[in-house]
Amino acid sequence: MLNASEQQWVEAVLNKLVTKMEWVSDKSRDKIPYTTINGTHDDRSLTDIDWWTNGIWGGMMWLMHHVTGDNKYKEIAEISEDKLDECFRRFYGLHHDVGFMWLPTSVARYRVTNHPESRKRALHAANLLAGRFNLAGGFIRAWNDIDGEDCRGWAIIDCMLNLPLLYWASKESGDPRFTQIAMKHADTAMIAFVRPDGSVHHIVEFDPFQGGVVRTHGGQGYGVDSSWTRGQAWGLYGFIMSYLHTQKEQYLHTSQRIAHYFMSNIPDNGIIPIDFRQPKEPAYEDSTAAAIAACGLIEIAKVVPPLEQDTYVKAALKLLKTLDDHRCDWTASTDSILLKGSEAYHRENHHSAIIYGDYFFMEAVMKLKGNDLYLW
Ligand code: GLY
Repeated sequence: MLNASEQQWVEAVLNKLVTKMEWVSDKSRDKIPYTTINGTHDDRSLTDIDWWTNGIWGGMMWLMHHVTGDNKYKEIAEISEDKLDECFRRFYGLHHDVGFMWLPTSVARYRVTNHPESRKRALHAANLLAGRFNLAGGFIRAWNDIDGEDCRGWAIIDCMLNLPLLYWASKESGDPRFTQIAMKHADTAMIAFVRPDGSVHHIVEFDPFQGGVVRTHGGQGYGVDSSWTRGQAWGLYGFIMSYLHTQKEQYLHTSQRIAHYFMSNIPDNGIIPIDFRQPKEPAYEDSTAAAIAACGLIEIAKVVPPLEQDTYVKAALKLLKTLDDHRCDWTASTDSILLKGSEAYHRENHHSAIIYGDYFFMEAVMKLKGNDLYLW
């Protein structure tokens, strides 16, 4: 897939990742970081143990363990996984993002070490996710009610990256129900989320009693008809993962449709905005969307005929090289790697460190190296 100079670039970035994570992992060993404050990782395990990204740090540690073989990464991953047990006890803070929380921690640990407690945790999380399935609408409910807003009928495109927990649970337990639920959700999402041009809605609200779409919401993007880039990336990567787990061709084609829309909107400078349909100013951007999309593009490239591969690989390389050249901080002045991640267009806080930006950048580079751990 890569020529000699591209391979050299991958090697160089992997070396930078290993060098930076060597000291960052020591410094943040007992934390579960989400962002940085004045260059230092925060610790969500102290302030918000239910936060949806709290499995990502563990995932980064498993990736580093995979690359380096150093057991210190395994130990740090295990610290964060143990802390997440508190979420099961609390219960009410959990929603559909149990996939983001326990795939990169418990499923990863079980796959690498066969640890029985991790298997139990992951199956428990999968049962919680399956329990959110709405039979009338054929979708997995995303969030619990937010500030009194009734979210019983809400599904979001991000959920596509939670589905692999269900695929894993079916393979592990032999019980097809988990995969049946995941595929029903993916089938619904293909119709309800993906627009004719290949762009996707962020939030689709269904009637939770009768099924059927009630309305769509702009969510974290600019507006109802806009195109939140991280949502496009969740769809792109999520559908190709559903294809890899099920071999259902329609999921591959859906991922490709989203990918073609995404690729045709990559600006010349390779910097991804928060929303492909946002106003020119302010020029808000989101580095995390670029990293997630790159992961999906690389996976598509692996399953299409050789003549088609280049399109996807070149687009992924453009995104990743732009991040490396302009949006990565390889110095010791901050614990994070990617700069300029953004949660949402209409939130106050733009252009900060977000842990999953670092995670997916790392994962994409490992994919290019041909050495991914396949946590999704
Ligand atoms: N899944 C929430 C987000 O991407 O911000």
